[in-house]
Amino acid sequence: WQKIAPRKASDPPVVFHWLPIIGSAIWYGNDPINFFQTCQERYGNVFTFILLGRKVTVALSAKGSNFVLGGKSTAFNAEGAYKHLTTPVFGKDVVYDVPNEVFMQQKKFVKFGLSTENFRAYVGMVEDEVEEFLKTDVRFRTYQQNDINEWGSFDAIAAMAEITILTASRTLQGKEVRDNIDKSFSQLYTDLDGGFTPLNFLFANLPIESYRKRDKAQKKMSDFYVDIITKRKQNPDGDHQHDMIASLLDQTYRGGDKLRDHEVAHIMIALLMAGQHTSSATLAWTMLHLASRQDVADALYEEQVKYFGNPDGSLRPMSYEDLRHLPVLDSCVRETLRVHPPIHSIMRQVREDVVVPASLAAPSKDGVYVVPKDTYVLASPLISQVDPRIWKDGDKWEPARWSDEDGIAAQALKSYVDENGEKIDYGFGAVSKGTDSPYQPFGAGKHRCIGEQFAYLQIGTIIATLIRRIELRLPNPVPDHNYHTLIMMPKDPKSIHYRRRKFD
Ligand code: HEM
Repeated sequence: WQKIAPRKASDPPVVFHWLPIIGSAIWYGNDPINFFQTCQERYGNVFTFILLGRKVTVALSAKGSNFVLGGKSTAFNAEGAYKHLTTPVFGKDVVYDVPNEVFMQQKKFVKFGLSTENFRAYVGMVEDEVEEFLKTDVRFRTYQQNDINEWGSFDAIAAMAEITILTASRTLQGKEVRDNIDKSFSQLYTDLDGGFTPLNFLFANLPIESYRKRDKAQKKMSDFYVDIITKRKQNPDGDHQHDMIASLLDQTYRGGDKLRDHEVAHIMIALLMAGQHTSSATLAWTMLHLASRQDVADALYEEQVKYFGNPDGSLRPMSYEDLRHLPVLDSCVRETLRVHPPIHSIMRQVREDVVVPASLAAPSKDGVYVVPKDTYVLASPLISQVDPRIWKDGDKWEPARWSDEDGIAAQALKSYVDENGEKIDYGFGAVSKGTDSPYQPFGAGKHRCIGEQFAYLQIGTIIATLIRRIELRLPNPVPDHNYHTLIMMPKDPKSIHYRRRKFD
């Protein structure tokens, strides 16, 4: 446990709690959004809460996210917050297990692999995988029977998780991973994933089965990738030019060293874990909303028909360039990421005392708050993404807000009046660029996501391919958030009804 120092005048306000070590862990764990919004009303944008013996200072609003995510890594440090969670899952010598400066080089290596040229090759591969999934997966039996009158159903999360891993392995992960998905790989992935939970975030090691399974699976998964690399080195003429392993094997650190085989293996595991739940949750939420909003689903289908023709056989294949110019599809995904960003809390370990800018929060006219060394800071871009002072009907999923330059989202993002009544001007196009934007589902600053374009490609192609083939209905309301997983998932029931589309 962290020793909690007595409160100083410059400390941000502390959230009231009855239990000394547990602090606000139960409220935060069960409903972080309600916790943050209630505390924001009570204490302002900056406050500290106790999370199982840790002192965590939350900085809300666009400025608050900028304060945390734009901080220097010597002050607000990501490895200090995440290493105990990620190293046992990803493996040694990558990401948060190495100094920040080394990880930043590794991140650049990954960026090389996420090239436009590779993306162009991926769109068709993703389309193929989804078509094949519809033709073979047991959940889509009525589709396979060519029955246009019979409704079938699928669980939003389970089906989307499977499509996500199939498409990610076919594209980024490479042929060997795709060929093993139905075999050993799937179980290894499940065991490894069992080590990527809020419990693992709170406790680095516990003598329990899920931790043992995680460690065993990590070793086997690492060996699996190293084996692929060894075989590729023995047979360099294989057809792998578009996948990430091929790209990483070409990369060289600044000092001239190549990435070692186990580093390539561990970066591949890190990418698998970074992309799997984030993309599958986004897919599941988008499908749930589309199933509950006939009007939007129809507009999306019409957009597909307009650009690519009727899916009865006269369909033109979608290209990467097409995908970037489909406003309805784009706004559906963008809107899902606004209301359901997969990551609700982004943490850093505080390595030196840091003054909170008075424009963000201050105890008095002349005073400043200081976030003390050896504690943690937390940003939650979700709070400003649904803030009713910025977005009209902020908690409502309404893709139309994104689709024209003068829409609600565009207005909110060109300029908005912040919590101090100050008018902030962004200018058009600041939506995903600025570290000070109220819309940041992919984070900001040094640790910003590099998977954004790949995620849009993967999610967009999957949704487009599905919506061309099936109609959707939701038998229940769109579910609430389940906060008991690291990534925000929909609660039960999350079943979607579908029917094969009829083409006249
Ligand atoms: C970082 C969100 C998909 C790879 C991040 C961060 C967020 C995020 C919020 C910042 C974390 C922090 O500051 O601590 C998302 C969302 C996704 C997605 C919403 C999908 C909808 C992906 C995919 C990949 C990926 C598909 C890989 C292909 C990464 C990497 C980082 C990152 C390498 C950098 C971590 C760091 O620098 O510390 N992502 N991500 N993400 N993401 Fe993603």
